[in-house]
Parts: sequence; structure tokens; C-alpha cells
Amino acid sequence: MRQSLLRPTRRARHARKSSLLSRPAALAERIERAHALDPVIHGLSDTVVRALPAGSRTDALHGVPFGQPAHPALVRLPLGCWTSAVLLDLLPGTERAAGVLIAAGVAGTAPAAATGLADWSALHQDQQRVGLVHAICQGGAASLFLASLAVRAGGRTAVGRALSASGLALATIGAYLGGHLALRLGAGTSHADQVSHLSGLGWHDLCGLAELPDRHPVRRQLGYLSLLVYRQGTEVSVLSDRCSHLGGPLHQGRILTERGTVCVACPWHGSTFAVADGTVVHGPATARQPSFETRVTADGRVELRPRP
Ligand code: FES
Repeated sequence: MRQSLLRPTRRARHARKSSLLSRPAALAERIERAHALDPVIHGLSDTVVRALPAGSRTDALHGVPFGQPAHPALVRLPLGCWTSAVLLDLLPGTERAAGVLIAAGVAGTAPAAATGLADWSALHQDQQRVGLVHAICQGGAASLFLASLAVRAGGRTAVGRALSASGLALATIGAYLGGHLALRLGAGTSHADQVSHLSGLGWHDLCGLAELPDRHPVRRQLGYLSLLVYRQGTEVSVLSDRCSHLGGPLHQGRILTERGTVCVACPWHGSTFAVADGTVVHGPATARQPSFETRVTADGRVELRPRP
């Protein structure tokens, strides 16, 4: 009796399990808090970070040259091919076409996985837990489609179709988790402040030029907006302080010169932005940091307005 009060009954456990299955968002939220995944995450994340040092190759995997993450665009190839193959399996005489689509989808998993791993290695831990399960689902789906190809080659088409259908089901679960990661947890979206909505039109007074230290980043407030302010002599550069990658505080970042341009590197994951106009110099951020035009008035006040 005492034990039954402490432990959930079998019926309660069953009810909880079926409620999780019927509400996929609840299942995804449980994965966010699944600390049991952390040892795997630490090991894998360290390996990926070591394998992908900062530089143009890693920037390309993040999607810096394209201005948005490359992973979502690349996953369309395997998912599109596999969905089409399973649909073709419903029609007679389409075995060869279905096989070609499955093979193309399996080949497309390599760039999708490489870009996904690069992005995953620079996420918060709750995001990484969901990302890990997403990757396991997509890896399992690729294995099932590969097995489907193998048995089809041996003439066992019916088994191949069953494997393909299972692979698509698993890939759909993985895609749901990918959507949760991007749309609910904000991986891959810009976390910079919506400057044009949060500051009024026209020039705004910020502070006196003499109040700003020379060549040292500081934070200043403009209404709701936190700003990174960097002064070099009489030139003042201003960026939104919330890093577009995951919202890190840029005013705590390191100032460095890259390709002859003064930049700030985010203290959280190292995204590097030109202080003059917020251009992304290195990822993982892909979205330009919102920046401001500035001017110094005759009486030494710094004024700014959002850069169009
Ligand atoms: S928050 Fe990740 S690089 Fe800035």
C-alpha cells in the first residue's frame, strides 16, 4: 500500500506515456530536460568543435556566405527524395525510379549531417539534447533507406517498401524535432533585437562623446534597446548588443582586427561582427548584427539612428 502511494501505478504510467505520444510537443519538451543525454553531448560536441576550427570552411557549413543557416535548405533533398520514393512505391512499375530517389536521398544526408553538426556544436544544452535526438532519428532513417536499397537489389521489393515506409516515419519524427529546435527553441533564427520596431525614427541622443572610453566596448541603453558602443577617437560605432546567434552580450566580447576591419567576437560562441556595420565575419551567426549610423554634434553629444 505504502509503495503504491510512492510509485505511479502501471495505469498512471501508461496514461502518461500515451499522453506524451498524443502531444508531441510535450515529448519534445521532455527531451529538452533529458539530462541523461549530457555525457554523450559533451563528448560529441567537443569532438565536433575540435574537428571544425573557426575559419572559412566552418563558416560555409554554418551558412555565413548565404546569410542564413545552410542546414534547413540541405535537408530538403533527402526528405523530398524519400517522400517521393515512398509515394512511388504505391504505384506499380516504379521500383527503379524509387530506388534512384532513395539513393539520391541517402547521398544527400552527408552535407545535411555536416551542416547540422556544425550548427549543433554551438547551441545551448537544452537545444543540443533535442538536436541529438533529431540527429539519431535522421541517422536511423538513412540506415533504414540504405537497408531498403540493399534488399531491393536482392529482389525483395516488398521488404524494401516496408523498410522505406519505416524510414520515412522515423524521418518525419526527426523533422518534427528539427522544427521544435528551430521554431520553439530558436536555433538558427536571429536573436538580435528588432531595432527598427524598438527605436523611433530619426536621430536619438545617446550620451556625451567624452563619457565613452577610447577603444573599449561599453553597453548603453536606448529605450528598450541594449547597445554595444565602441569609440575610436571621434568615431563611434554602435551595434545592437544582443548577438544575432543566440543573444549573447556583445559588449562583453573581445575586440580584434580581422581582414583589416575592427570586429567584436561574441563571448558565447565566437561569432565575429564588423563593429562599423555589423557584417558577419565569422559564424556561427549568419544574420548581420543590426547597426546604427552615428554623428557627433557641435556640443559633443553622440546621436544615432538605425542604419537602413
Ligand atoms: S550567442 Fe552564440 S555567438 Fe553570440
